[in-house]
Amino acid sequence: MAGTIVVVGSLNMDLVMRVDRFPKAGETRRAHTFETFIGGKGLNQAIAAARQGCRVRLIGRVGSDSFAETLRAVARREGIEDRWLLNTPNMPSGVANIVVERSAENFILLAEGANGALKPADVEAARAAFAGAQLALMQLEVPLESVLTAARLARQAGAQVVLVPAPARPLPAELLAQVDILVANRDEISAILSEAAHEPEIDARRVLRAGVGMVVVTLGARGAFCVRANQPMRSVPAFTVHAMDTTGAGDAFVGGLVAALAAAEPLEAALRRAAACGALACTVMGAEPSLPRREAVEALLHRA
Ligand code: RIB
Repeated sequence: MAGTIVVVGSLNMDLVMRVDRFPKAGETRRAHTFETFIGGKGLNQAIAAARQGCRVRLIGRVGSDSFAETLRAVARREGIEDRWLLNTPNMPSGVANIVVERSAENFILLAEGANGALKPADVEAARAAFAGAQLALMQLEVPLESVLTAARLARQAGAQVVLVPAPARPLPAELLAQVDILVANRDEISAILSEAAHEPEIDARRVLRAGVGMVVVTLGARGAFCVRANQPMRSVPAFTVHAMDTTGAGDAFVGGLVAALAAAEPLEAALRRAAACGALACTVMGAEPSLPRREAVEALLHRA
């Protein structure tokens, strides 16, 4: 799949335990397994898009620990351009502590490490990365002012700005006005607004009024929908799979969506590809190992 995207975001090492059920406050529980996986919303989304055949340039920071080389090596292995991935002296790389329940749901505790040191000046210095890209993709695991700088540079270079507002938080109008496509889950879409209705379509349309071109809301097993100003809502059904671990499913969805849009696939087809990527990602433990390759996605798309 042709097309080039820039990802500005986080890289984490995920430390993952599987449990029957989440512990209560003050409770000690035994985990069934402990594993480490490559993760971070930025790197996950970069890999997810690259596995669909997209050219990917990554802007971010790793630390000065042993995780840093592992994270960089994986980016390179996936064919991701790492020229704008900076080393950060005297800092740990980002780490996520993830607990996955039998239900496949997770919770995540994040220690941002070097991701928090990505400055607007670093993004400015990577200005050349945006040249010729169709889309620039950002999340909120790096400082907000760096996301804002990236959005401005992307627009100046003629790239569409795609924002995933995760981890969920309120967003300034200044940033929303720069966003072409916002992809959120139902909690994130409401968290953006100072006055949310906590009803996904109503909140998505409120976000549109802040200047965003299109809003896509993912609803897990209930699929996803997309709204644009003065147009009816479009729904995309979910693919039915046996879920083991939902970590990275949202990242797989977004990576599939941007890869398809960068390759000029029509919106309807791009949303279907995204849904297939998200569904397949739920069937495998861990973030990076679960991000599907193009052949698996094509097979699911043709089976359904
Ligand atoms: O979206 C999943 C990701 O969130 C994990 O890989 C973890 O690193 C956190 O960033």
